[in-house]
Amino acid sequence: PTKVRTICCIGAGYVGGPTCSVIALKCPHIKVIIVDVNPDRINAWNSDDLPVFEPGLDEIVKQCRGKNLFFSTDIDEAIRQSELVFVSVNTPTKTSGMGKGFAADLHYVEASTRRIASVATSSKIIVEKSTVPCRTAASMRTILDANSNSVDEDGSPISFQILSNPEFLAEGTAIRDLLNPDRVLIGSLDTKEGKMAAGALREIYENWVDGSKIYETGLWSSELSKLAANALLAQRISSINSLSAICEATGADVDEVAHACGLDKRIGDRFLKASVGFGGSCFQKDILNLVYLSESLGLKEVADYWQQVITMNEYSKSRFAKKVVQTLFNTITMKKVAVLGFAFKKDTGDTRESAAITLCRYFRQERALISIYDPKVSNNQIYLDMTEPGVIDDGAAVRSQVAICDNAEDACRDAEAVVICTEWDEFRQLDWQRIYGRMKKPAFVFDGRGITDANKLRSLGFRVHTVGKGPQIMDPIWA
Ligand code: NAD
Ligand code: UDX
Repeated sequence: PTKVRTICCIGAGYVGGPTCSVIALKCPHIKVIIVDVNPDRINAWNSDDLPVFEPGLDEIVKQCRGKNLFFSTDIDEAIRQSELVFVSVNTPTKTSGMGKGFAADLHYVEASTRRIASVATSSKIIVEKSTVPCRTAASMRTILDANSNSVDEDGSPISFQILSNPEFLAEGTAIRDLLNPDRVLIGSLDTKEGKMAAGALREIYENWVDGSKIYETGLWSSELSKLAANALLAQRISSINSLSAICEATGADVDEVAHACGLDKRIGDRFLKASVGFGGSCFQKDILNLVYLSESLGLKEVADYWQQVITMNEYSKSRFAKKVVQTLFNTITMKKVAVLGFAFKKDTGDTRESAAITLCRYFRQERALISIYDPKVSNNQIYLDMTEPGVIDDGAAVRSQVAICDNAEDACRDAEAVVICTEWDEFRQLDWQRIYGRMKKPAFVFDGRGITDANKLRSLGFRVHTVGKGPQIMDPIWA
């Protein structure tokens, strides 16, 4: 296989940054250059305040930066130097044109591919790291073949091999997931050259991942597996969240139901935590992508099946928001509602598709006064997420309606209700007695993550609603 001495990663985001930092850590003999079109992001990667918060990431970057790990905006030079190029750019859902609202916007992937083709002066292995629709590698190959220089500086023909190597890390646990992945998936063409390229990538991972965990497949299986894995994971959450609605209506306890089901080894106990709804930049986007793919293949029933996972997630969020309003005597207008947690899950500062955004928008429409606290999300990001795009002067309106606090207790002061949106560890250790003393009465807690001890809170005087836990109504027959 090609000896890889230098790796370039196009896209210094949540995936490219941590993934290639770990490669640099584990492969001191390889030079890793992470590039991006966004100079602010690159400057941040070169500073003490990294643009991505992940437990353990700072230490790795500090250890490798300037030695074999570099962050740069000089994309062309990095491509030229490398034998292997990761394409780890964003692939958001299209907001206009064909497939609007469903299809993945591939123009960043295409732009990166064209760039590689036009500047490469030697043969390269191109690795799709971004999550892309099935058969994207075929389009990349066509673009590369049609646009590249045909010979290198020595007159030898230039060739490109394309691999699919989807990333399965979850935010908040990215470093742990990268250091100890369940599997590494490498898709290649079933040709001698394709297999050799896969071998070169395998060799890189084998610096720290056991060879038995590296699974080589065809290109299309690899691309589809990424969409499939996210769809299956999200489906579990929508399934448990649908059951939480039944629990609330019957007095069953969703944690007990999840535990009872999870004891069956065929089902397993992970990823069955009922919540206010899933968020994050991947689940919704990738399912919509799968729905679009199914539809474009004429598989309407398949598309409808996966669409339902999203529909159930939207329902989970709106059902929870309605519960808040109904419980607060059907109006939250001018009432102070404290929102604890704004990130889409704990241990990340990322708010993309966070359930908290949907809930806060709902509360804004009801004209509540919202006070928000999150340990990692910046104030600017919260204001940005709360502002309705296209609405004139909404920025000022948001600032008059939404206050951002430095800690949970300040957010809860004088509030009528506390709404827990993110399962940050520190919310498990709040001094609820003190919080209760400073809230309006009756004081309500809406726990969208099932992290509080509801009975303890009730003993302090709170009225508590936990997702998936119904009122323990005594049936007259049993009373
Ligand atoms: P991101 O938005 O954080 O980062 C993408 C970066 O690519 C941005 O900094 C952007 O400026 C840069 N970029 C875009 N076009 C470029 C170009 N032509 N040249 C150079 N840089 C360019 O996105 P992300 O969260 O890192 O996701 C990247 C891909 O990985 C997506 O396809 C996503 O679906 C997939 N993925 C994400 C996660 C996750 O947890 N975030 C997990 C697995 C897979
Ligand atoms: C996901 C996949 O897990 C990862 O493999 C893929 O590479 C990217 O997408 P991520 O979105 O970062 O990772 O986080 P994840 O832990 O999957 O959580 C997604 C959302 O589901 C979060 O909002 C989380 O709070 C929610 N969730 C997760 C639940 O509501 N219940 C659960 O049991 C698990």
